[in-house]
Amino acid sequence: MTMKVAIIGCGTIANSAHIPAYMKNKEVEIKYFCDIIPERAKAAVEKYGCGIAVTDYKEILKDPEVTAVSVCTPNKEHAYISIDCLRAGKHVLCEKPAARTYAEALEMQKAAQETGKILNIGVVNRFNDSVNRIKEYIDSGKLGEVFHVYVSFRSHRSIPGLGGAFTTKEIAGGGALIDWGVHFLDIVMYCCGDPKPITVTGEAFCKLGKNMKEYVYTSMWAGPPKYDGIYDVDDSITGMIRTEGPVITFNGAWAQNIGEREMYIDFMGDKAGIRLDYGAGFTLYTVENGALVSYKPQFNMTNHFENEINAFVDCIKTGKKLASHIDTVIITAKIMQAIYDSSDQHREIVLG
Ligand SMILES: NC(=O)c1ccc[n+]([C@@H]2O[C@H](COP(=O)([O-])OP(=O)(O)OC[C@H]3O[C@@H](n4cnc5c(N)ncnc54)[C@H](O)[C@@H]3O)[C@@H](O)[C@H]2O)c1
Repeated sequence: MTMKVAIIGCGTIANSAHIPAYMKNKEVEIKYFCDIIPERAKAAVEKYGCGIAVTDYKEILKDPEVTAVSVCTPNKEHAYISIDCLRAGKHVLCEKPAARTYAEALEMQKAAQETGKILNIGVVNRFNDSVNRIKEYIDSGKLGEVFHVYVSFRSHRSIPGLGGAFTTKEIAGGGALIDWGVHFLDIVMYCCGDPKPITVTGEAFCKLGKNMKEYVYTSMWAGPPKYDGIYDVDDSITGMIRTEGPVITFNGAWAQNIGEREMYIDFMGDKAGIRLDYGAGFTLYTVENGALVSYKPQFNMTNHFENEINAFVDCIKTGKKLASHIDTVIITAKIMQAIYDSSDQHREIVLG
């Protein structure tokens, strides 16, 4: 019998990643498409030729046939919807970031522990081929001691939906860090064996987007500007995290007055280093026979969203705990909270 699942939130990530991946998985059937905008739920039923359109996710909770849900709503809705689903006996794959705050993420983790249901977070890079190859290089000792990782998630003009959900702190919890940085920090943590953070220092800047009408851009993902909306999140951020493993330094920007897009992670080891071009391949730099060498491994990339969904479906059947389980990725929520707290208080936060 096929496993019945439901999609809660039928927007961009649901349509571009979750739904197509479930549709490809022969062991799964999407029974519900839920969105508070009825047309979006109905459009999904029509487009994918299956399922029932609903506007209230609580309808799904009442159906014992539904085994699992994908929570693809804005960040504000992640915690309470995931918790309600877990308490109704459903397994949950919730999009990243886990939640707006560390406190909310802890509540989600508590609900997963109390119900014994699976709560995975959409840290999709843990299912990415480049990232997994880099992890293998690091685990095998090829890089030696990885002592410093530098993270850059900087773009010229890439604020999403100015004045909308992504730029409203009350809805999103933060800006460039919580939206983009979460992926980058998660990759570092995963590749470096999820090292315990010790201290965190950060400064977040809300500069370029706040005069909304004066913000000049070339394109705007996540919808056109809403000039009567709110812009109160970080459009750039910098900081340093000391861990029991490497020191992590980072610079991030949705928007900056530098016309470059620099999306990469540098893993610096004492034997070799690797630059990961985010979402693409990587280059390894080392010394061989007294000569400096670098090479870019060539391999076929699989679709990491499909890998993530297939692994979610599989772990429900096998009980296997994935690397994207809340128990592992909660640490990124703790770090991001500390970065924002450090910025608010203009001092270092000791996590111990
Ligand atoms: N993994 C990734 O790379 C990735 C990429 C993009 C977005 N995301 C994450 O996915 C989430 C959604 O982002 P998006 O770009 O798809 O946003 P979106 O605005 O396109 O879609 C969100 C949808 O949720 C619906 N919604 C809001 N409240 C709801 C509720 N209570 N019940 C049911 N539906 C509700 C909205 O009407 C909307 O259709 C965010 O948390 C974002 O951070 C992850």
